[in-house]
Amino acid sequence: MEKNAKIYVAGHHGLVGSAIVRKLKAQGYNNIITRSSKDLDLTNQAATDKFFEQEKPDYVFLAAAKVGGIMANQTYPAEFIYKNLMISTNVINSAYRHGVKKLLNLGSSCIYPRMAPQPMKEECLLTSELEKTNEAYALAKIAAIKLCRYYNQQYGTNFISVMPTNQYGIGDNFNMETAHLLPMILRRFHLAKLLSENNFAAIRKDLQRYKLGWGLDEKINYDDNQSLEQALNQVGAYRDKVVLWGDGSVYREMMCSDDLADACVYLMENKDYKDIGEHVNITDGTDIQLKDLFAIVKEIVGFAGKIEYDPSKPNGTPRKQMDATRIKSLGWQPKIPLKQGIQQFYEWYVTEER
Ligand SMILES: NC(=O)c1ccc[n+]([C@@H]2O[C@H](COP(=O)([O-])OP(=O)(O)OC[C@H]3O[C@@H](n4cnc5c(N)ncnc54)[C@H](OP(=O)(O)O)[C@@H]3O)[C@@H](O)[C@H]2O)c1
Repeated sequence: MEKNAKIYVAGHHGLVGSAIVRKLKAQGYNNIITRSSKDLDLTNQAATDKFFEQEKPDYVFLAAAKVGGIMANQTYPAEFIYKNLMISTNVINSAYRHGVKKLLNLGSSCIYPRMAPQPMKEECLLTSELEKTNEAYALAKIAAIKLCRYYNQQYGTNFISVMPTNQYGIGDNFNMETAHLLPMILRRFHLAKLLSENNFAAIRKDLQRYKLGWGLDEKINYDDNQSLEQALNQVGAYRDKVVLWGDGSVYREMMCSDDLADACVYLMENKDYKDIGEHVNITDGTDIQLKDLFAIVKEIVGFAGKIEYDPSKPNGTPRKQMDATRIKSLGWQPKIPLKQGIQQFYEWYVTEER
């Protein structure tokens, strides 16, 4: 990629898209174009095509998507499949029509079968049934991989697809109802620490910045410390303990979104479709048992209380590890160790709160 090439980052407000923009700017790219969904709804084919016709980007990072947790996926499957199919189809087709040199499409590990052998290799795609809870989302993401593949095959385009592991980082969602695991846990320990310090001023600021979710925000009397404390207890944050779902026995991988952005820019700069194949996992290939992850977060936040498990709540899949052989063979590996990444993430979270 030339430093003055026109680069469109679709989804630049999101966790992944914002990290890609930061990385590109840090690398000296100076012609980045972005649009919010309000200014350009990528589910609208005519609007998307007009944008590509007018702007004629050289390179595209496709990080726009309708994403959500299990509950949202189960409640709105039609929206998940429709919007994600439309966004991918419109962007990929317009990229082809208007001569984009290279496109990077972001997928997710949910594309792999529910019972895929661990660690999950790229080849296990479509070898058995998908997890039902997010099947609609996964099918749209698989369609996007296949769109890239068949456009490359028929039209000679250079469209590549990456499947990253679980992400955390700057701009993450901290709503206790909809957040991913790491921001949710980090905030729970942080709120428990503030409670243990009787720091209700900081608790109020935190609640002004991020919703708690679960219908609690509307019920809190913000002038009443007891009301605040009760709401925090309901999301598992107490003065002397933090309550966590399951028993901490399952394993998960966590990657800092700055590492994912580094991988995306590296692949755009150095590797073509012919090097990568249909898609590549973005993973370290190593995971961590949740009880160890929780201990790290507790230490970084500096919470002195104990951890209590609620075994009546589900643990989730015992292990969901992606295979790193292909990405390593392409010459990339993550640079941010987990502990350092969480430390930086926490520093950003508390600084933002002030
Ligand atoms: N987060 C993770 O842990 C993770 C892990 C693996 C893979 N990924 C993949 O990375 C991609 C991005 O995920 P994310 O976590 O960054 O999501 P996110 O934080 O929810 O951001 C999604 C972005 O998509 C944009 N968008 C949504 N609908 C749109 C529409 N109709 N038109 C235009 N833009 C639209 C949003 O724009 P506005 O803000 O302007 O509305 C937002 O910037 C997804 O494909 C996801 O599967 C994420």
